[in-house]
Amino acid sequence: MKKTLCLIMICLMAVMLFAACGGSQEPQEAEEGGIDYMALVNKEYPLPEGWEDAIETVHYTNSVGDDVEVEKKAWDAYEQMKADLEKMDIHVDLDSARRTIDAQQKIVDDFTEKYGADYVKRYVAVPGYSEHHTGLALDLYLNVDGVDMYENEEMIQYPEIWEQIHAKLADYGFILRYLEGKEAITGYGYEPWHIRYIDNVDVAKEIMEKGITLEEYLDKLPTTDVAPPEDDE
Ligand code: DAL
Ligand code: ZN
Repeated sequence: MKKTLCLIMICLMAVMLFAACGGSQEPQEAEEGGIDYMALVNKEYPLPEGWEDAIETVHYTNSVGDDVEVEKKAWDAYEQMKADLEKMDIHVDLDSARRTIDAQQKIVDDFTEKYGADYVKRYVAVPGYSEHHTGLALDLYLNVDGVDMYENEEMIQYPEIWEQIHAKLADYGFILRYLEGKEAITGYGYEPWHIRYIDNVDVAKEIMEKGITLEEYLDKLPTTDVAPPEDDE
């Protein structure tokens, strides 16, 4: 009897040890939230299925009181980058990150009324096809000399500040998504404020150093003409 009890206890301890060593753990990707940080979302690729259930997010209130929802790891990386930029006297905040389909539709409607359909084609994604649905795309705004600048036309006036911000992105796993001169590939006009978290500093560095788009890196160039209308400026 004693021998049987002893055997059972040994078996139990072995099972516990196996579990503690990770024998029953999920694969790495699921453990980190189950999302593909390199996922391509553009005019041809919608938000991957199941994303909504797999993503972990944090909420944050920005300097003008708006609620901004960000994917958890992207948020951690953003906070570190922001602190680094502050040391260079560069002040950024988050205008928008994760958006629901309804929120994206509201932007389409508001911007169509304010700026017209051509502007919307050039700068706003169709609901379901916005990288913002992932929670990994962040729109920054600037605070220059104590003044918040969050209108796109205002922000574009500070190329030297954006250049310094862009030089820091890859160190924190971010890339610039809508590059100047790459509109035929990305489908959108230049957006210095729209950054994308990819959770891989080495790949981010390669992409930023080469000055390429995520489409080029993943070798998934558009199969149809996605170029936006010509900019009037
Ligand atoms: N501004 C980007 C393209 C979006 O609306 O998702
Ligand atoms: Zn954006």
